[in-house]
Amino acid sequence: TGLVVAMDGPSGSGKSSVSRGAARALGLRYLDTGAMYRAMTWWMLRQGVDLSDPAAVAARCGEPVVVSGTDPDGPAIHVGGVDVAGPIRESEVTGAVSAVAAVPEVRARLVALQREIIGDGGIVVEGRDIGTVVWPDAAVKIYLTASPEARARRRSAELAGSTVEAQREAMAKRDTLDSTRKTDPLSMAVGAVELDTSDLTLEEVIAEVLRLVAE
Ligand code: ADP
Ligand code: CDP
Repeated sequence: TGLVVAMDGPSGSGKSSVSRGAARALGLRYLDTGAMYRAMTWWMLRQGVDLSDPAAVAARCGEPVVVSGTDPDGPAIHVGGVDVAGPIRESEVTGAVSAVAAVPEVRARLVALQREIIGDGGIVVEGRDIGTVVWPDAAVKIYLTASPEARARRRSAELAGSTVEAQREAMAKRDTLDSTRKTDPLSMAVGAVELDTSDLTLEEVIAEVLRLVAE
């Protein structure tokens, strides 16, 4: 099967930008698994599902049809035929996604979908559990990190009207939820290479990923 690159790490470490850049350079597909958890969360919010009730989330998570594109130049995400690329980045979804992603039934469903999309490989896949759970056989596993300051600065630069301090708080909350949940918490996979991007440019990080792939 073709090459699979697993890219994991916390929010703002650079997973999306680095994965897209590397996929483009290598002529590979690209999958943003976080967008799938966000799409599921967007749908649950729209349906009025009580997200504080894991049983309610589990009972409904088989319903939405989540379709994810794999073009690094224009990653697409649809739920039930609706383009949700914009709405899934809004703060309402960002604030709720960790609770939805902690529900084992949600993870089982989305992991199965992700494995289908990966198929024969030839893809860079980013998320929180790609090297540990989704594709432990990935030929290259990378764990991106960056200081909380760098991550908060990057995210607030992307989102109009958000302060670095507010971003830092929101990220710390999500980090805690993502790394302490019972099912497949964020952790570094066996065989993963840790890459601290705090003091690197995006181009430098992509070059390092290409070097690891070529090894
Ligand atoms: P994640 O997917 O981990 O949340 P993103 O790729 O969405 O991270 O966000 C990272 C942001 O930080 C982007 O706007 C990117 O351009 C910027 N950035 C600045 N320096 C770097 C770097 N060294 N590596 C990756 N991204 C960087
Ligand atoms: O964009 P950002 O890096 O902030 O987050 P994301 O990659 O879009 O992921 C959003 C949320 O989805 C995370 O905070 C996790 O709760 C969840 N997620 C997950 O549990 N497993 C994955 N493989 C990807 C995301």
